Amino acid sequence: MDLLSVVLLTVLACSEAQNMINVTGELGQDVPLTCSFSSPDIFWFMEVQNRISAGIGRTYSSVPTYFSPDLETKYSISEKKLLVRNLSAEDSRFYFCGRKDDGRTVYGDTIRLIISDAQNVMELKAELGQDVTLTCSFSHPEIFWYMEINNKPRLGIGSTYASSFPTFSSPGFGSRYSLVENKLLIRNFSVEDGGLYFCGKKIRGAMIYGEPIRVVPGK
Ligand SMILES: *[C@@H]1O[C@H](CO)[C@@H](O)[C@H](O)[C@H]1NC(C)=O
Ligand SMILES: *[C@@H]1O[C@H](CO)[C@@H](O)[C@H](O)[C@H]1NC(C)=O
Ligand SMILES: *[C@@H]1O[C@H](CO)[C@@H](O)[C@H](O)[C@H]1NC(C)=O
Repeated sequence: MDLLSVVLLTVLACSEAQNMINVTGELGQDVPLTCSFSSPDIFWFMEVQNRISAGIGRTYSSVPTYFSPDLETKYSISEKKLLVRNLSAEDSRFYFCGRKDDGRTVYGDTIRLIISDAQNVMELKAELGQDVTLTCSFSHPEIFWYMEINNKPRLGIGSTYASSFPTFSSPGFGSRYSLVENKLLIRNFSVEDGGLYFCGKKIRGAMIYGEPIRVVPGK
């Protein structure tokens, strides 16, 4: 199997995989995920979009190989473990290990990495019908805003760049939201606006997220 087909592998996650295991970690922690089997050559994958998985790397006779140089700073593969370093909100996804059996990939348990939000999520109460302002935990000339939909993927709301006009990812958003500096204003808050919001900034092309904000209806 050539590298590309390993990297761009489509996994029918739920039908082929075995059990589902939940692993919980906190933001900033390093969390080890353990494959449900042992093999000299274990492949690790993560779900990047619904049912589409990307390869992270493999152990080959105990020497790990990463499918992209960037992945090496984020993940560490050893024996039957995948260490996910410095957890951030976007690490919350499904991970799979697999091995080759007669040329076929056999998957172990599916691991759902859950980011515990016990401490690190700010909660903001918002009154229905009011305008609500969310403030990003950092300042930056360019701030991106996202809202979580059904646990993932995150929906982009828009971004501000310096003092120029904000860019919204959907034409309707300009009337729903307003973006100024590091703030997101939600107009006329309704029950369906409740949920988890993230701000982010790009550092050398990588999105760094601020503290998630959970907005809940209430006074
Ligand atoms: C794993 O987490 C999901 C989502 O939080 C939950 O629905 C499911 O019940 C959990 N499964 C187990 C076995 O704890
Ligand atoms: C961990 O990630 C955060 C952003 O998510 C970053 O600010 C911090 O520097 C990282 N820490 C390490 C040790 O890489
Ligand atoms: C606010 O939203 C409600 C529905 O959630 C709508 O009935 C009302 O007209 C809206 N008010 C304004 C000022 O847009």
